[in-house]
Amino acid sequence: MTTVEPLQWRGDAASGALWLLDQAALPHEERWVECRDALEVAARIKDMTVRGAPAIGIAAAYGVVLASRARATRDEGLRALATSRPTAVNLFWALEALGPLVADGPEACLARATQLHRDDVAQNRKMGAIGANRLADGMNVLTHCNAGALATGGYGTALGVIYAAVEQGKRLHVWVDETRPRLQGARLTAWELTRAGIPCTLICDNMAASLMRAGRIDACVTGADRITATGDTANKIGTYGVAVSARHHGLPFYVAAPRSTFDLGLRSGDDIPIEERAQAEVTDDRQGRLAAPGIVAFNPSFDVTPAALITALFTERGEISPVTAERIGQVLS
Ligand code: MRU
Repeated sequence: MTTVEPLQWRGDAASGALWLLDQAALPHEERWVECRDALEVAARIKDMTVRGAPAIGIAAAYGVVLASRARATRDEGLRALATSRPTAVNLFWALEALGPLVADGPEACLARATQLHRDDVAQNRKMGAIGANRLADGMNVLTHCNAGALATGGYGTALGVIYAAVEQGKRLHVWVDETRPRLQGARLTAWELTRAGIPCTLICDNMAASLMRAGRIDACVTGADRITATGDTANKIGTYGVAVSARHHGLPFYVAAPRSTFDLGLRSGDDIPIEERAQAEVTDDRQGRLAAPGIVAFNPSFDVTPAALITALFTERGEISPVTAERIGQVLS
């Protein structure tokens, strides 16, 4: 299965640029945005032109290439990347991987960034094949947000599991949570699955529990933005509710994520920094104001699902089940 590639480095290290498929414009317009300096990359991460934990990390890695060739604004560019979005740990992992190479110049940085990008796609394919073993022919699978090719270097984490199962010949139907307030499900997951020819149905986030009760969902699979050493998992706001409902209805709840999404320095999910975004994402849509004038909105972009609610974590290094600190240590060491 060929999936979309959401970001590309075009040209050589000295004069090339990072190009991003504008995810704010999808699905209505397929527009590519050129970034020629690290400040631009940071701004595009912040405004979610590029989004999804692994894709943010890879974009930041290419951003470091751009910073490394701009002596005057190098530190400012690196700082902007590091403060663009706080929750996806893949961003900090990429900055750490590229940091020591900045002094060696753009060629060394580009070689490493390209490697991280390639590795991410290969890891997604591996974890997809591992997770697909848990999905059976004929299942109805629910996913939340977009953890597909668009959210990664290519192929996807949660959607990678679904793509791999379909590649194995299994017939699946996917329930797509719309994912308020930015509608990553309605706009991006629906677009990806439809392009891939995988049967899917869009639902509002508040419909999932009643579909579970009606026996119309067999399993849930999502991605992650940060997973602690004990398995507590931050992902798009609304994921926790899906996991609670799945447990109540006796359904498996799976999370697919690469090693770069684990933050083994943290133990509790309470310590994961949760991004709070603009109120206007909740009160307005593209046409303008929806909510009553003067109302204050709260807009945390992520929530934390405790490890105890997760049936299994799929990583490129194997399945982690039960989700315990000990098992995480064994699989990732
Ligand atoms: O705010 P976003 O769109 O960057 O949030 C993305 C998610 O929550 C994804 O589920 C997560 O990053 C996993 S992507 C493979």
